[in-house]
Amino acid sequence: METFFHTPVTLLLLVVMCHTLPPLAGSFPISPNFPAVFNFGDSNSDTGELSSGLGFHLQPSYGQTYFFKPPSTGRFCNGRLIVDFLMEAIGRPYLRPYLDSVSTQSYRRGCNFAAGGSTIQKANAASISPFGFGVQVSQFVTFKSKVLQLIQQDEGLERYLPSEYYFKNGLYMFDIGQNDLAGAFYNKTLDQVLGLIPTILDIFQDGIKRLYAEGARNFWIHNTGPLGCLAQVVSIFGRDKSKLDEFGCVSDHNQAAKLFNLQLHALFRKLPQQYPDSRFTYVDIYSIKSDLILNHSNYGFDHSIMVCCGTGGPPLNYNNQVNCGSTVKSSNGTIITAKACNDSSKYVNWDGVHYTEAANRFVSLHILSGKYSETSSSWNL
Ligand SMILES: *[C@@H]1O[C@H](CO)[C@@H](O)[C@H](O)[C@H]1NC(C)=O
Ligand SMILES: *[C@@H]1O[C@H](CO)[C@@H](O)[C@H](O)[C@H]1NC(C)=O
Ligand SMILES: *[C@@H]1O[C@H](CO)[C@@H](O)[C@H](O)[C@H]1NC(C)=O
Ligand SMILES: *[C@@H]1O[C@H](CO)[C@@H](O)[C@H](O)[C@H]1NC(C)=O
Repeated sequence: METFFHTPVTLLLLVVMCHTLPPLAGSFPISPNFPAVFNFGDSNSDTGELSSGLGFHLQPSYGQTYFFKPPSTGRFCNGRLIVDFLMEAIGRPYLRPYLDSVSTQSYRRGCNFAAGGSTIQKANAASISPFGFGVQVSQFVTFKSKVLQLIQQDEGLERYLPSEYYFKNGLYMFDIGQNDLAGAFYNKTLDQVLGLIPTILDIFQDGIKRLYAEGARNFWIHNTGPLGCLAQVVSIFGRDKSKLDEFGCVSDHNQAAKLFNLQLHALFRKLPQQYPDSRFTYVDIYSIKSDLILNHSNYGFDHSIMVCCGTGGPPLNYNNQVNCGSTVKSSNGTIITAKACNDSSKYVNWDGVHYTEAANRFVSLHILSGKYSETSSSWNL
């Protein structure tokens, strides 16, 4: 059963909307009023797309805290992702991946196009995921046209598929860009990476434009997290200690993430003028994750950068030299399997790149507080 409730914030917002809405209203909360949710992104919100699309199984440690069946979830986490907690909060089933060919779940309440490793820029030969943002938007366009055709042939299918009304009034969520920055650092200088950001955001805007043309009107955009605090980045780019800030994060990567967010925020402010009758919410994931990492001990976490799943050792001791779940033969012939830590709830970082379920819950609760988001709308123009 889906519950239908109004939080005080939704009620307040409805009251405000009946009058003239200023260009910058408070945030519009994620709410069950959205009949469907369509999500685009990378591993931060991949509910099984990449593993379905490329046909692989994650190692058993993945999913061990919540789903218990890693091959059937394909999430890059020990448990739930931020998007899972958000769906729980509005009484919805977890989003089903677009490429999930066999499932007991329907697509009626939405569909998830996010795939691990995806970039906003077009994928190239070096990309982990072939499903860049443009491809994800194309997948959505195909999905929508097929669904509407089917429903036209048989109205009864509305029990399993989103109707036109659901597409029009649905929430379109985005969490992508992290891999564009992370990837660029492997063969670009900081200045070159910073110089690439406007191009990346132009491509992002192309996707928004195509979705708007398809009738999307409610947009929910996550900014990117503190990339330089990911164990993988620290272990590769932080060998020279002068590259690290006082919290042990790589300064260059965080600087790029911050500039990306600054420009994404400027775009967010500009979008309503270009796309009338629409609402955009910008969620400051960077601030939530930095607060968690920098103040982790206040929030009950023992480790902010050290990973829960993975093994290795000095010189950096981020336990990230063998990927979570992988087995390697060490130089003296001993077989080492990278297992998970005993208490993942004490760790922010799961496997070097992805957050633990405990961290994702923290982030979700902060998103749901409404204090980290703002909404811009053209409804009064
Ligand atoms: C590095 O950049 C060059 C072009 O500047 C590109 O051809 C190459 O694929 C890049 N390497 C990786 C690993 O992305
Ligand atoms: C850490 O906590 C302090 C005290 O609550 C707060 O002032 C500061 O902004 C927090 N740091 C971050 C990065 O949010
Ligand atoms: C072999 O190497 C591993 C990891 O480097 C170490 O933990 C282990 O103690 C070593 N075993 C022996 C017999 O030296
Ligand atoms: C987990 O706990 C078991 C039993 O308490 C202990 O033997 C083991 O070393 C612990 N493993 C890790 C990775 O801390």
